[in-house]
Amino acid sequence: MHISDAEKQVGKECSLKGWVYRKRESGGIIFIVVRDSTGTMQAAIKKDAVGALTWDAAQSSTIESSIDVTGTVKKDTRAPTGYEMEASAMRLVHMAEPYPITEYQSAELLLDKRHLWLRSRKMTNILQIRSAVFKHIREFFEGRFFWEVTPPMITKVGGESGADMFDIDFFGEKAYLTQSSQLYLEALVPSLEYVYSMVPSFRAEKSRTTKHLAEYWHLEAESAYYSNEDNMRLQEDLVSYVCQKTASENQDLIESLGVERKRLEAVRPPFKRVTYKEAIDYLNKHGSRKDWLDDIGTEDEKILTKDEDKPVFIYRWPLSIKPFYMKSDPSDPEFALNSDMQAPQGHGELIGGSERIWDLAELKGRMKSMGIEADAYEWYLDLRRYGSIPHSGFGFGVDRFIKWALNLEHIKDAIPFPRMMNRAEP
Ligand code: 4AD
Ligand code: MG
Repeated sequence: MHISDAEKQVGKECSLKGWVYRKRESGGIIFIVVRDSTGTMQAAIKKDAVGALTWDAAQSSTIESSIDVTGTVKKDTRAPTGYEMEASAMRLVHMAEPYPITEYQSAELLLDKRHLWLRSRKMTNILQIRSAVFKHIREFFEGRFFWEVTPPMITKVGGESGADMFDIDFFGEKAYLTQSSQLYLEALVPSLEYVYSMVPSFRAEKSRTTKHLAEYWHLEAESAYYSNEDNMRLQEDLVSYVCQKTASENQDLIESLGVERKRLEAVRPPFKRVTYKEAIDYLNKHGSRKDWLDDIGTEDEKILTKDEDKPVFIYRWPLSIKPFYMKSDPSDPEFALNSDMQAPQGHGELIGGSERIWDLAELKGRMKSMGIEADAYEWYLDLRRYGSIPHSGFGFGVDRFIKWALNLEHIKDAIPFPRMMNRAEP
């Protein structure tokens, strides 16, 4: 049995394979709280009801020992989870050494012992929600006839800014770990028209914040003939879909993490839209001194979104502070046809997206004006030479989404093995 099936197993003799979560002995009974991937349940081992081997195994078992308990499941309102197993036998599969994680531990120790901390109830629940979020994302795109594609992780080109890429020695030549799969997705548009990928992106940013990882899971999509407006609608539909599905299908898990279902249910389109200019004006009136062309930083994001319960789009950014591939607005070329989606309550940017330049001369001109060497991008320019079409796309930080959706303090807990400045282990 698994612990989540306890209700169905009442009255039956079962074998429960799990780990010792807690243990106490009182009046000839050893109570072991067993955990498995689905929850915790108490097993009662009575000295006069089991053989000496079982009693010795129960007595000597330590925290995190792996065990196999056989017994009958009973409904018991006094038991912490409503069910209890009355054991007839127990086998000690592996006796654990003294467990290094005890009740009050520093965040640093929990990161050093991450490989063990992943067994905690909190991390188990988060990882199960993470798995569900990946599933919901794929379902969303399936339902819209997008193809999932697999871009390379080793590349010679960047898209965002050269400074924060990890170099690698690729058979004696310099290459990089991918920063974004966007350019490759664009190459797949003339083949498949609607594509997405969900793979890692790597950022060598030396920023120690609660929302940056050096390796994060990046969902990116690219769509043929989509305008930036279509692109924004796709983004709000995606975020809403994943929130709705998580609320309805993973209710127990989110509630066990203290997240109310209504928090996610409230995330329905349309999302609020403010222009870059409106955002800058608002910030200047609310305690942050901003000049035109300034970026919107972490503190500004907090000011802009602190009272929101749905994400907010900031759109129509000045082209000059955005990457080379963004298309400018033909009616006012100072601005990009783009948007960033901000999570509520200062959780940070969830999505960046735009319409892409699809004209060769325009793209070359823009790269030149930004001092980007075109050599490594020849293949990307080819896409504008052979049957180019208008298209748009976006990139969504999956770990950051999970951080916001579960109201986690730090993005490190949204991913099993976080890679951050000064941490590539375990
Ligand atoms: O805004 P970014 O840098 O945009 C791009 O990479 C585009 N090429 C995407 C595209 O249009 N296909 O990154 C997109 C998103 C951000 O909004 C954020 O959610 C997430 O990726 N992100 C990070 N998440 C965790 N740790 C980091 N260091 C992140 N950097 C970006
Ligand atoms: Mg961005």
